[in-house]
Amino acid sequence: MKQGLFITLEGMDGAGKSTQIAAIQRLLKEKGQEVIVTREPGGTVISEKIREIILDRENTEMEPMTEALLYAAARAQHVAQVIRPALEQGTHVVCDRFMDSSIAYQGYGRGLGDSVSIINAYAAAGCVPDITFFLRLDPDAGKERIQESPLDRMELEAMDFQQRVFHGYEELALQFPERIVTIDASEEISAVSAKIKEHIERLLQP
Ligand code: TYD
Repeated sequence: MKQGLFITLEGMDGAGKSTQIAAIQRLLKEKGQEVIVTREPGGTVISEKIREIILDRENTEMEPMTEALLYAAARAQHVAQVIRPALEQGTHVVCDRFMDSSIAYQGYGRGLGDSVSIINAYAAAGCVPDITFFLRLDPDAGKERIQESPLDRMELEAMDFQQRVFHGYEELALQFPERIVTIDASEEISAVSAKIKEHIERLLQP
């Protein structure tokens, strides 16, 4: 049986990932394809529990390496329990954030560098997205768009942290041009969706 497509969305908080994920799900369903939508950190009962620990505003003492390992632990469970089995059954998987988030936030943002890729090579165990949409929106614009409150532990980080993360994403896009498609997220929602649709339709062609 044909493997499903593994599609991930990346970008700063406020870039509009959720809206675009819903559009991708609709697109695939309209085409009669099996699809699941999931998110990181999360997607399984265990991973959602880990998510609570990571994002808890009271965990101000958390070490950067602890944080990186917790994201990776949540990912290991998610890959093994949800993502890989779905892909093997031929179901497409659309995931809100994946390994690139760890490289951008923990590798660049927290300054952990290459250790993050190494940890995550174990966590993801060879599970690499077929395509990643980087919704590019500078951190200032992203911040204005976040309306939820209270902000979680990551969203509370200062602007210089957010700038390092943004730079990390730009570096990743340069490093993996075959996989990562950069899309200007300051454009209209419909324009962003149209670009994403083009890429997905190309991938679906036999
Ligand atoms: P997300 O679910 O996108 O936040 P929200 O539900 O508030 O939209 O992600 C939670 C936060 O975790 C987000 O600020 C990015 C961060 N993050 C990392 O730092 N590393 C990671 O590996 C992942 C997956 C997320």
